[in-house]
Amino acid sequence: MLVVALSVAVLLLARGCSSQLTPDFYQESCPDLLPTIRYQVQLAVNRQPRMGASLLRLFFHDCFVNGCDGSILLDDTATFVGEKKAAPNLNSARGFEVIDAIKAAVDEVCPGVVSCADILALTAKDSVVELGGPNWNVRLGRRDAKTASQAAANTSIPPPTSNLNQLISNFQSHGLSVQDMVALSGAHTIGFARCTNFRSRIYNETNINGFFAETRQPFCPSIAGSGDNNLAPLDSQTPRLFDNSYFDNLIAKRGLLHSDQQLFNGGSTDSQVRAYSEDPDSFENDFVTAMTKMGDIQPLTGSNGEIRKDCRRVN
Ligand code: HEM
Ligand SMILES: *[C@@H]1O[C@H](CO)[C@@H](O)[C@H](O)[C@H]1NC(C)=O
Ligand SMILES: *[C@@H]1O[C@H](CO)[C@@H](O)[C@H](O)[C@H]1NC(C)=O
Repeated sequence: MLVVALSVAVLLLARGCSSQLTPDFYQESCPDLLPTIRYQVQLAVNRQPRMGASLLRLFFHDCFVNGCDGSILLDDTATFVGEKKAAPNLNSARGFEVIDAIKAAVDEVCPGVVSCADILALTAKDSVVELGGPNWNVRLGRRDAKTASQAAANTSIPPPTSNLNQLISNFQSHGLSVQDMVALSGAHTIGFARCTNFRSRIYNETNINGFFAETRQPFCPSIAGSGDNNLAPLDSQTPRLFDNSYFDNLIAKRGLLHSDQQLFNGGSTDSQVRAYSEDPDSFENDFVTAMTKMGDIQPLTGSNGEIRKDCRRVN
């Protein structure tokens, strides 16, 4: 029996299999981890509701670039090119100071034990919880990368100009299904986007609610470069609530990004959008399933990677 268990463990280790991640990874080594992160996320979101959205997005942008390994957190230096200045992150990814504060709080209760990659995973979950979304057990045991890739960050994260087929094949390249893609897109029920990312949508597209487009236009001038960083909520109905109204918006042609509206544009994903709009529980269940799958992308485990002392630099 023991021999069988051991050989299964060896097999999994040899494969670098993500099933090594487990919710009770820090049960002995850091029993206060979960409440510590929960409290810190509560503080950050109370201070600024948008932060919940920004922290959720950091986890997505970490996992889609060579796996959930904390690589997005590494600062550029004179001799190191990180991911923060990659196209999808530049002037856009935010919340790094909050991750620093959470890392400090975690290291106070259990120094040197918890990876920055796992802190991102738990922080993303607690951000969803704090904004009224579902709670779930996050699988843990990731270690931190000693490298980052600006090139991979440029190409692996889907741009908002993507059409449906491009979204589907991008997510498939990360091992995620069409259903996962639609469910994960529901994250756009919170947070904001910059004018530069939705300008052509509100001036030049036809599959858009006219009143919605006109409401957005005064804050996002049509002239290229003008007001690029002006913000608009991704969910115009309830931007601070993690609910299913993102899908109601798509049905009403109020998707803010071109890529958002692609999910309800007469194609194969229309039925899933309708289902999530009608049944919030099915959205929540599928979102949790897909977040867990996304969190399982290529983790560093065992003796690979390291536990960073400072999330912004390799040890
Ligand atoms: C389906 C493909 C996706 C595309 C094309 C996309 C694109 C974008 C873009 C362009 C923005 C606005 C950035 C800016 O203007 O600075 C944004 C914001 C955001 N995205 Fe996505 N995204 C996608 C999927 C996801 C996923 C899977 C998640 C999380 C599970 C996510 C979470 C967020 C959040 C929460 C924000 C708001 C961030 C904030 O307010 O700071 N997105 N996304
Ligand atoms: C990534 O994109 C940024 C912004 O467009 C660009 O400046 C940079 O050269 C790109 N980096 C790589 C390695 O492709
Ligand atoms: C809209 O499309 C026209 C024709 O392609 C183009 O000249 C114009 O720059 C576009 N406007 C915006 C705001 O994208």
